[in-house]
Amino acid sequence: MDTRVFGHSTKVAFADAYPRQSRKLTHDLLDEPLLTLDALANLAAALPAESIEYNPGALPIGIAPEYVPASELGVVETIRNIRESESWVVLKHIEQIDAYAVLLERILGELVHIVGPRTGAMMQREGFIFISSPNAVTPFHFDPEHNILLQLSGSKTMTLFPAEDEAINPPIVQEAFHLGEHHRNLPWQEHFAERGTAITVGPGEAIHVPVKAPHWVQVGPEPSISLSITWRSEWSYAEADARAFNRTLRKLGLKPRSPRPFPARNRAKALAWRAMSRISP
Ligand SMILES: [Fe+2]
Repeated sequence: MDTRVFGHSTKVAFADAYPRQSRKLTHDLLDEPLLTLDALANLAAALPAESIEYNPGALPIGIAPEYVPASELGVVETIRNIRESESWVVLKHIEQIDAYAVLLERILGELVHIVGPRTGAMMQREGFIFISSPNAVTPFHFDPEHNILLQLSGSKTMTLFPAEDEAINPPIVQEAFHLGEHHRNLPWQEHFAERGTAITVGPGEAIHVPVKAPHWVQVGPEPSISLSITWRSEWSYAEADARAFNRTLRKLGLKPRSPRPFPARNRAKALAWRAMSRISP
């Protein structure tokens, strides 16, 4: 039986885009038994509470604390009733559960030969599952990981912006983010809209989301389930560390040059930051 997740044409398209360009891809995970709504409700019950981010949404405004559902039961019910619950749930670090770790490795393993020569070994491999009620919106933000979002059920439109567009993704915000001083959400301005690329995906389709490419997401009229497979690379760590080093230079009153985009490696500033971090208290 052919159990490949990505076909030849998707691998060619991914190789053409990685790591800088967003790209619509396809996948073959729709029959995966670990990703049905029932299986995901069980996964939510098995994960530790800190790995679940959820907004139960439909709770009345004036509910007494003793009537708010306990989080584990609450999230399982929220997932099973996702069509009506006006909620969104993120199951984080699914690789904590053995069967999902195997699944994640199987999927990422198909891309190692494309990723390795460009950005080095796939490090910090992590999976996230998003279960959302119809029409849910994720606000404008960026993420520090390499990411492929695989749509499993329902549809989703992600509007993406180039990571290098510093009018949209200001260096000062990026620097603060890498030092843990700023949330990943970005300020939105209406005039950004025309510079975005909207990619709509349905079941069997996927999106390559480049490292730190700003994006916002709108779920379609049906409940949505998506799987995000993510990894970091020496290249992405170096870019982050160079940003952190720039923060130090800026505090000294300098105007540092931004890290250069791939294929530049930004090693000098990254090494300077790593040396500094080791000697500071
Ligand atoms: Fe995101």
